[in-house]
Amino acid sequence: MSKLIINGGHALNGSVRVHGAKNSALPILSAAILSDRETVIHNCPRLTDVDAAIRILEYLGCRVMREGDSVCVDPRTLTGCEIPRELMQEMRSSVIFLGAIFARCSRAVLSMPGGCELGPRPIDMHLDALRSLGAVIVEEEDNITCSAGHRHGGRIELKFPSVGATENAMLAATGCSEKVVISNAAREPEIWDLQNYLRSLGYNVSGGGSPEITVDGRLPEKRGEHTVIPDRIVASTFMAAAAAAGGDVLLRNVIPAHFSPVTNAFRELGCDIEEGGDYVRIRRTGRLRAIGPVITQPYPGFPTDAQPVLMAAALRAGGRTVFEERIFEDRYRYVPELRRMGADISVEGHVAVVQGVEKLCGAEVASTDLRGGAALVVAGLSAEGTVMVTQLQHLDRGYEGLESALRALGADIIRVDTAAGGEAKWPTEDTKEKDAARCLPS
Ligand code: EPZ
Repeated sequence: MSKLIINGGHALNGSVRVHGAKNSALPILSAAILSDRETVIHNCPRLTDVDAAIRILEYLGCRVMREGDSVCVDPRTLTGCEIPRELMQEMRSSVIFLGAIFARCSRAVLSMPGGCELGPRPIDMHLDALRSLGAVIVEEEDNITCSAGHRHGGRIELKFPSVGATENAMLAATGCSEKVVISNAAREPEIWDLQNYLRSLGYNVSGGGSPEITVDGRLPEKRGEHTVIPDRIVASTFMAAAAAAGGDVLLRNVIPAHFSPVTNAFRELGCDIEEGGDYVRIRRTGRLRAIGPVITQPYPGFPTDAQPVLMAAALRAGGRTVFEERIFEDRYRYVPELRRMGADISVEGHVAVVQGVEKLCGAEVASTDLRGGAALVVAGLSAEGTVMVTQLQHLDRGYEGLESALRALGADIIRVDTAAGGEAKWPTEDTKEKDAARCLPS
C-alpha cells in the first residue's frame, strides 16, 4: 500500500514533458497482433494498464520487449484467441482486444469485462459492430464467444460515438476482404492515432477523426513503427495542477488542438495561456473565477476525463461553477473525498454544483478511480495543511510518475510505501486541529 502526502500551498514553476497517451497505446497494442512482422511502438507510457495489455499479448503467444519508452511486439508467434477472466478483469478496457483477435483468428473468446468505478460499462455496441460484419456471438454467463460465421464487409452504424466500439469496429474490419464503413464513429484523437498505426501496418484505413471511417483493403507500403500521440488528459491534469496551486508551468510534447476545450475552460477560470506547436504555457497569479456550465460530451466537446481535475481546480474559484456529466453514469464518486477537504459541492444526478470556498484543508482521502484520484491530488496542491491520498493503484493506471513530475515543479509531495514500513508522516493531533481550525468557515 502506498500513499501520497501533499503539503499544499506551494506554487508550481518550470516545465514538464507530457508522456504518451494511455488511451492510444492500449488499442494500438491490441492492433499489434494484426502486424505480419515485428512492430515497434514509441512513446508508450509506463502505466499499469499498459503492463496489463502487454500481459495479454504475451498470454496470446506474442513476444513483447520494452526498451525505454518503446515497446516491440512480435505477433508472429501468436497461438491463442482466448483471454482468461483474470486477465480481462485486470483492465477495464481489455475488451479492446476483441476486434483485433477476431480479425486475426476469425474467432475470439473473452470474459465480460467488469463494470468499473464510473458505472456499468456495457459493450453492446462493440458486439453489434462485429455482428454487422457477420460475426456469430454467443454470450453465456460471463463469457463471450465470437466466431466468423459468414464474414462480410458493409456498414456499421454506431448508435453513439463510443470510443471503444469505434476502435473494435476498425480492428475487426481489417479482417474483412470487403470494404467496411463505420458511421457515427467517435472522433477522439486516439481514433486518429489508431488509424495511423493501422496504416503503418499496411491497412487502408481513412476518415479517422471524422464521423465516418472507411476500412478498405491494403496499402502498398508497411513500416510497422509508430509514435503514440501525447496524452491530452495528462496535459489537462498538469494544467489543473498549475491553476489550483498557482505559478507558471510549461507543458512540453503536447498537441494543443487535442485539448482546446480544456484550455479554453482554464482561460475562462482566469489563467493566462500561451499555445505553440508542441507546448502550452499556463500561468495563474490571482484568484480564479467561476465558469460554466461545463458539459462533458464526445470529442470535440469537453472531455469527460478532464471533468474531475477541472472541478478540483475550481473548488476555490470565486462564485458557482456547474458541471453536467453526460458520458458516464457514475463519475462523481470522488466528490465526497473532496468534501472531506472542505469543498462545497452538491450533486444531483448528472449535475454537480461547486460553490467556491476560501480554503481547503488537510485530510486523508481515498482515490475512487483514475481521474477522481488525480482530482484529489490537484485539490491537495491548493489545500492549507497536509492531504494524504490512498488507493494509488487507480492513479498508476494512467499517470507515469505524477508525484515526481509535480515535485520537480515545486510541489511538496512524496509517495510513501507504507507496506515497506515507510511511516506515512501524518501530522500529530495538534497540527490536525490547527489544519481543521484553518479550514473552519470564516
Ligand atoms: C474510452 O472509454 C476511454 N478509455 C475513457 O477513458 C473515456 O472516458 C471514454 O472513452 C470517453 O471518452 C479508453 O480509451 C481505454 P465509450 P470507453 O465507449 O471506450 C456507453 C480514462 O479515464 N457505452 O466512449 O469505454 C458507456 O457506458 C478512461 O482514461 C455503451 O452503452 O468509452 C459510456 O456511458 C475512463 N455501450 C458511454 O457509452 C457500449 O457498447 C461512452 O463510452 C459502449 C459504451
